[in-house]
Amino acid sequence: MARDKTLIVGNWKMNLNMHEASLYVHQLSKVVKTHRDVEVVLAPTALTLQSLSLQVNFRQFKLAAQNFYWRDSGAYTGEISATQLRGIVQYALVGHSERRHVFHESDKDIRAKVQAAIRNHLIPILCVGETAFERSEDETQAVLHDQLIGGLANVTSDELEHIVIAYEPVWAIGTGQNALPVDVSHAIRAIRGQIKHLYGQKAADNMQVLYGGSVTADSAADYLALPDVDGLLIGGASLDAHAFSEIVKKAHKGSSLAK
Ligand code: PGA
Repeated sequence: MARDKTLIVGNWKMNLNMHEASLYVHQLSKVVKTHRDVEVVLAPTALTLQSLSLQVNFRQFKLAAQNFYWRDSGAYTGEISATQLRGIVQYALVGHSERRHVFHESDKDIRAKVQAAIRNHLIPILCVGETAFERSEDETQAVLHDQLIGGLANVTSDELEHIVIAYEPVWAIGTGQNALPVDVSHAIRAIRGQIKHLYGQKAADNMQVLYGGSVTADSAADYLALPDVDGLLIGGASLDAHAFSEIVKKAHKGSSLAK
């Protein structure tokens, strides 16, 4: 993805029912300003996606799926495909740590989902990151390497231009224990190094990479100031309209565009 816009993604996880989601979007639309240099993406539960797609102004908010199955259609009870999400969402999270660790998604599943998203013209936000144990064993770079190879195998350099990567250390997600900016920089440099190795310098320079893990309105600016960080993936703080709009405001560098 071109790095001309800072991406702020709110991952609501399994929170808010249809009524609450609609009210919340209504509230958010009043406080979140539209800026030319910021793309704001909301990832509500699948249940609310269709109604929110009719409610939101896509100039103000884009939508993302939190998850989907990699087949386009068929006998897969309980699943939703990227084909069915077309026209409703523009983005899709792939390989979020909760999918990897709670639902045991493998790199093979994640790779198939990246492919399915691309095939269906959705922008995959491929999440990578080490656990606390892997970090303590000094394996962060090796984990990032493996997850990138696993998720991006079969992706061509043209397709890579339509992918976003999110660095989310597992130990920082939902724990209030956010990573130090210097460590985030270090990890994202390793990610770009790997992209360079696989696709070349230009691809590495153009890769849009986000940070996620216990980001708050207070800490957001510290990450956004890092030249390697092109946006944020926000969980808990995205459920607070005030905090989320503050984060969007901090992501805005240029002049604001009237809604
Ligand atoms: P958090 O979640 O901001 O609540 O840590 C981030 C995420 O899961 O993407």
